[in-house]
Amino acid sequence: MTKIAIVYHSGYGHTAKVAEHVQTGANALEGVEASLYKAEDLASPDEGPWDALAAADAIIFGAPTYMGSASAPMKAFMDASSKVWFADGWKDKIAAGFSNSGSLSGDKSSTLQQLATLAAQQGMIWVNFGMKSGYAASSNDFETAHNRAGHYLGLGTQALTDLPAEDAPGKADLETSEAFGKRVAEATLRWARGAA
Ligand SMILES: Cc1cc2nc3c(=O)[nH]c(=O)nc-3n(C[C@H](O)[C@H](O)[C@H](O)COP(=O)(O)O)c2cc1C
Repeated sequence: MTKIAIVYHSGYGHTAKVAEHVQTGANALEGVEASLYKAEDLASPDEGPWDALAAADAIIFGAPTYMGSASAPMKAFMDASSKVWFADGWKDKIAAGFSNSGSLSGDKSSTLQQLATLAAQQGMIWVNFGMKSGYAASSNDFETAHNRAGHYLGLGTQALTDLPAEDAPGKADLETSEAFGKRVAEATLRWARGAA
């Protein structure tokens, strides 16, 4: 079984919903088992499900964008991963990342760059999204437009700040999240087969 760990933080449930759909997309592939882990449970390098991350073939990092960067609990996890860095523990694992924010842009690119840099520091193999933006070029609506925010480095979704997690992100962004999970899972399967 090829294992994918999705480590995420979500203050108000919106990014959690994205993480669940990324998981659904990854699990749609035969032979893939994607699991969710909360960044808060990995705030200390000596406590939490670090063994599960060590056993994973890929780790997908997900955070809401708060004040133009990854939320503080996600950053605490990133800092705690320095213990793994010393031991090259995640070297040559597949990595990918996603961010959700209130605005269509919201400076999610900054957060995706943070996550890609984390992966690089850990010696991981970063998988970008590979879905062209403007999928439904004549509209940018919440129902049909995939990759609405037009991110390539990773997955970017939007949850309007006055909507609860039940209603946001919308249908198109959740479908986009599943496509992203599938993309990372496909890359992980190829990578794991090659390494065997
Ligand atoms: C402290 C804080 C800072 C935020 N900063 C940004 C920001 O820089 N850009 C943006 O578009 N939205 C920003 N937002 C909105 C959140 O990104 C948005 O509500 C998101 O859906 C929250 O995800 P969550 O429910 O998983 O916490 C901010 C929200 C909070 C609470």
